[in-house]
Amino acid sequence: MNRPKKWTPESWRKKEALHQPVYPDAAALADVEARLGQFPPLVFAGEARKLKAKLAQVAEGKAFLLQGGDCAESFAEFHPDNIRDTFRVLLQMAVVLTFGATCPVVKVGRLAGQFAKPRSSPVEERDGVELLSYLGDSINDIEFDEAARVPDPERMIQAYNQSAATLNLLRAFAQGGYADLHQVHSWTLGFLDRSPQGERYRELADRIDESLAFMDACGISSKTTRAMRETSFFTSHEALLLPYEEALTRIDSTSGDCYNCSAHMLWIGERTRDPEGAHVEFLSGVGNPVGVKVGPSSTPDDLLKLADVLNPENEPGRLTLISRMGDEKIEACLPPLVKALKAEGRNVIWACDPMHANTVKSSNGYKTRPFDHIMAEARSFFAVHRAEGSSAGGVHVEMTGQDVTECIGGAQAITEQSLSDRYHTFCDPRLNASQALELAFLLAEELKEERGISGATGSGEQKVAAAS
Ligand code: PEP
Ligand code: CO
Repeated sequence: MNRPKKWTPESWRKKEALHQPVYPDAAALADVEARLGQFPPLVFAGEARKLKAKLAQVAEGKAFLLQGGDCAESFAEFHPDNIRDTFRVLLQMAVVLTFGATCPVVKVGRLAGQFAKPRSSPVEERDGVELLSYLGDSINDIEFDEAARVPDPERMIQAYNQSAATLNLLRAFAQGGYADLHQVHSWTLGFLDRSPQGERYRELADRIDESLAFMDACGISSKTTRAMRETSFFTSHEALLLPYEEALTRIDSTSGDCYNCSAHMLWIGERTRDPEGAHVEFLSGVGNPVGVKVGPSSTPDDLLKLADVLNPENEPGRLTLISRMGDEKIEACLPPLVKALKAEGRNVIWACDPMHANTVKSSNGYKTRPFDHIMAEARSFFAVHRAEGSSAGGVHVEMTGQDVTECIGGAQAITEQSLSDRYHTFCDPRLNASQALELAFLLAEELKEERGISGATGSGEQKVAAAS
């Protein structure tokens, strides 16, 4: 990849950088940046290239991108069980998609670095007191207290350390036997056991077991085949906090290119995707695969400009456009964009984020998302791509392995009243494990239709419908 001529890891500083914290102590910030600049990279350039090659398969319609995790990771909820639970729901979703739709799945976590948040307002007001908004754990503290809300650069060091430890565990899970396909039954989470989604998943796992036993009899087993005992798992986050991202940018000794070594894949949010802005400038020069969130106000022109700047060589796998339109707007807003990129022959992946434009306030004051709106947007996403002769490349979701009550609806029929039972998110409402699996079954059905495969995903379809 050729870097843009005038690009350097700090060239974003000459552009307008939205949603950046104002640190009161510039010397303390400079000190943290210098220290971070000396820390080991969290990922290697070669891994980011490997992900790009897998995403090139997605761009060609031969694989599907599954990207998911917390809206915001937090220091308080840092626990191996939380990491494991999110990882295993992603594994379960991937199995549903791979087996259900016979489609390779590229797994990318919103994990090990998702700490900085753009907020709709820079200030938060409670009972007449106005403080700076919470901006994510790498910037300030969620506690509603004046001192806690002051941006503190030392928090970037803690975010780096937590990311390193999280990534270490994820690598162990992916390669150390936990993700062995023979464990497909053991990935079920306790609270899913008696749910309709749990039942449906168990039936699918039984069929996988049968296939594995057959392959074993033919001499193909975990011992002989690495792909059966290990999985590839990648990390991603929004590249929002630019001083942190700059400090973790390194020159790859093999290619001479610059890579952001804080995650394999980085994305630019809906609020910072100005082609002239600092975030686009920063990601234009790193070799990683990059994403851009695409909301209802995006125009074909905006996206073509973004593709020019972020993917001038039209490399497949480099650029993922993550559509987040809302279930009511997607059918009107997405087709002109898909058409325009297709007409210009741009190699992009289209992924669907059915979460961010379906956020509502419940009557009892919770930020929530109706599960049926999420499902509706995902369905429409596939329908639009089918109509345009384009490929629905992936999904981007906020989810957790915990049994939370943050999005209303789903097979557990979470109501507005039950939101308060286990509402734990630090930012946006997430799908819980049962809702995440339900979405995966829907995606598998849609993908199968797109790929022209007949038959239902999981023989338990009727039974599940009856049970729910
Ligand atoms: C997010 O992914 O958490 C987010 C803020 O999304 P968007 O930029 O699409 O609003
Ligand atoms: Co979010």
